[in-house]
Amino acid sequence: MRGFFVVFEGIEGAGKSTLMHRLSRELERRGIPFKTTREPGGPRTAEAIREVILQRDLPIEPMTELFLLMASRYENTVKTIIPALEEGYIVISDRYRDSSVAYQGYGRGIPIEFIEELNEKATLGLKPDLVFIIDISVEEMLRRIESRGGEKNRMDSQEIDFYRRARRGYLLMARENPDRYVVLDGTMSEEKLIAKIMDIMRQKMKEKGVGYAL
Ligand SMILES: Nc1ncnc2c1ncn2[C@@H]1O[C@H](COP(=O)(O)OP(=O)(O)OP(=O)(O)O)[C@@H](O)[C@H]1O
Ligand SMILES: [Mg+2]
Repeated sequence: MRGFFVVFEGIEGAGKSTLMHRLSRELERRGIPFKTTREPGGPRTAEAIREVILQRDLPIEPMTELFLLMASRYENTVKTIIPALEEGYIVISDRYRDSSVAYQGYGRGIPIEFIEELNEKATLGLKPDLVFIIDISVEEMLRRIESRGGEKNRMDSQEIDFYRRARRGYLLMARENPDRYVVLDGTMSEEKLIAKIMDIMRQKMKEKGVGYAL
C-alpha cells in the first residue's frame, strides 16, 4: 500500500493524544497529506461501539469486550485506514491491534494467539509500518489520570496490576519486533519526544520509499 501507517500505543495518560496532535501540526506545516483516527472508534459505527466499550457502569465480559473491539477495528480498517493508505495518505492511529494484545491479552489473560487470530481478520492482515510505544510507569499513569480530573471511563478504572501487565506486554512486543516498534520514554518533554518521532518517521518513510520527505 502506498501510504504510511503509524500507530501510537501505551497505557492510559502516556501522552498518545498529545503527541498525535503535535505530529499532526508538524505534518500540516509541511503540507503532507495525513488522516488521523482512533481505536476503539473512527468511523461512525465504530464510534458507537466505542461508547458501549467505555461506559464504566456497563458490565461487559472480557470476551464481549474483545469482540466489540474487533468489530470496531474492522470498521475502522475497511472504511478509514485502508482507503486512506491506498490513496497515499499518512494514517496516524491512536491505538490499533497491539492495544488488544496488551490489554485483553496480557491485561485480562485471553490467549495472545487467539487475539492475534482475530486481529488478522479484523485488520485484513494489515500491520502498522511503525508503532510508537509511549512508555510511562503505572505510578506516573495514576498521577496523570488524577490531575486530568473529570469522569473516568472503564479503561481508566481497572486494578493497578492490569496496567502493569499491559505495560509489560507492550515492552515485550517491542522487544520481539525491533524493526517496527519504537519505545519512547513518555516522561521526556513533548519537544524532545516530537523531535525523536519526526526523526524516526523520516528514516522509516525513506526506507519504505514513501513519496514525501518530512
Ligand atoms: N511528555 C509529557 N510530559 C509530561 N506530561 C505529559 C506529556 N505528554 C502528555 N502529558 C500529560 O499527560 C496527560 C495525558 O496525556 P494524553 O491525554 O496525551 O495521554 P493519552 O495517552 O492519550 O491518554 P489516554 O489513553 O487516556 O487517552 C495530559 O495531562 C498531558 O498534558
Ligand atoms: Mg488519548
